[in-house]
Amino acid sequence: MNQDKPEFDVLVLAAGLGTRMKSHLPKVLHPASGRPLVDHVLRSVAPLRPARTVVVVGAGAQLVEGFLAGRGIEFVRQDPPKGTGDAVRMARPLLAGSGRLLLILSGDVPLIRTETLEKLLGVAANMGGGALLTARLAEPGAYGRIVRDPMGRVERIVEARDASSEERSIGEVNAGVYALREEPLWGELALLQPSNAQGEYYLTDAVEALSRGGFPVAPVVLADPQEMAGVNTRAELADVAGALRGRIAARHLAAGVTLVDPDGVWIDDTVELAQDVTIHPWVHLEGTTKIGTGSVIRSFCRLANAHIGENAEILEGVVANNAEIGNRSHVGPWAHLRPGTRLGEEVKVGNFVETKKATLGRGSKASHLSYLGDAQIGEGVNVGAGTITCNYDGVDKHVTVLEDGVFIGSDSQLVAPVTVGRGAYVGAGSTITKDVPAGALAISRSTQKNVAGWVSKKQEKRREKSEKKV
Ligand code: UD1
Ligand code: CA
Repeated sequence: MNQDKPEFDVLVLAAGLGTRMKSHLPKVLHPASGRPLVDHVLRSVAPLRPARTVVVVGAGAQLVEGFLAGRGIEFVRQDPPKGTGDAVRMARPLLAGSGRLLLILSGDVPLIRTETLEKLLGVAANMGGGALLTARLAEPGAYGRIVRDPMGRVERIVEARDASSEERSIGEVNAGVYALREEPLWGELALLQPSNAQGEYYLTDAVEALSRGGFPVAPVVLADPQEMAGVNTRAELADVAGALRGRIAARHLAAGVTLVDPDGVWIDDTVELAQDVTIHPWVHLEGTTKIGTGSVIRSFCRLANAHIGENAEILEGVVANNAEIGNRSHVGPWAHLRPGTRLGEEVKVGNFVETKKATLGRGSKASHLSYLGDAQIGEGVNVGAGTITCNYDGVDKHVTVLEDGVFIGSDSQLVAPVTVGRGAYVGAGSTITKDVPAGALAISRSTQKNVAGWVSKKQEKRREKSEKKV
């Protein structure tokens, strides 16, 4: 067996109830930086190419299985949860006989790093029983305490609530991440007794049994104890999300992205930013958002699944959701790009413009105060201030087509379905209900009438009236 890359299976424990989250959602599906907790755990181990990956599910099993479907992950159910040892032995029917190492992780411990797991597996490969991660904590709290034997190996692990006061003063704790040799492990798990304060089957007791049975287990001390941080409460969820945010920001800074205030942006783990992107404070980038080189995102923007080209400028307060923005386009301030918006290159969408299922071709502009829904807008079109596509008749949605070079005067309504032909003009203040031929002028406002001297006559009448009253 290669010492650096031993063959191993992964078992993720995710059957606990998560009661303290006070949530209808299973704990491991709560997102931190755009990914469910269990996803962070699985991603930390995936680069090490495990032979098989098994997740132990219980509370909310169907939701967890549904989320992880299609990734080649196997599931075993543990219901009710009777302890970590019981959870691990659920996987025996699937994995028995392989003789590999079993890397055991918790679905609610999302900060663990790939390099740490690699190191743990490397140490475990040379041990009869395996290895586990530990940390030295100033305040070891409720964690299991590591009792070492004279050789410095793990003799036993005592849960805080089962520990003597002397044992409780031990500062080295069990991080809950193990790489254990499967064959002796299955046998020891079968012999576990729930003889402890919680009446549970403890995986930690199986570690003790391995070591007593001549299968020594090595402790691997975490350099950064933050990696073992688990999530039991919403407060801890916020803590790990904050830690992930810091890591994500550091990754982008190192790759040539300017974050004006790295602590003041939220960038999901799933977001891709090119070199020389600039992100101003108080921006939230979510989901599959991608931003091309040279683009600038100003403050107070929320971009979700938005694809932004190169050298674009997104001004303050833009909300974009499932929208595409082409190279060198300008959006905002205060614009709302809803799903199905596709802006070509050098498009301008200005303040207080809302778009939905709207395509704007190269160089087109809608600079002020418009609603463009179900609109196919060609290249070089000018949409005047206050233009509204009337796309909804109360039952169905209809499409407005503005061909290349069209000019729509301000405060016009386009009652869909309607097409304005290539290069046509619509006079300001028009309500367009019929198609406009290419090159034509359409104007539908009523003719203006000027009544000369009307104001002074009106004032004269008012004066006469008030004099009579006196
Ligand atoms: C466990 C360890 C403790 C260690 C700590 C690190 C035991 C007995 N103790 O304690 O030494 O310091 O982790 O965080 O193992 N789970 C199941 N089924 C169960 C019980 C738990 O799937 O029946 C899952 C939980 O969802 C969780 C993980 O196992 O993901 C750990 O369980 P938890 O109850 O949090 O263990 P601790 O009591 O914290
Ligand atoms: Ca725990």
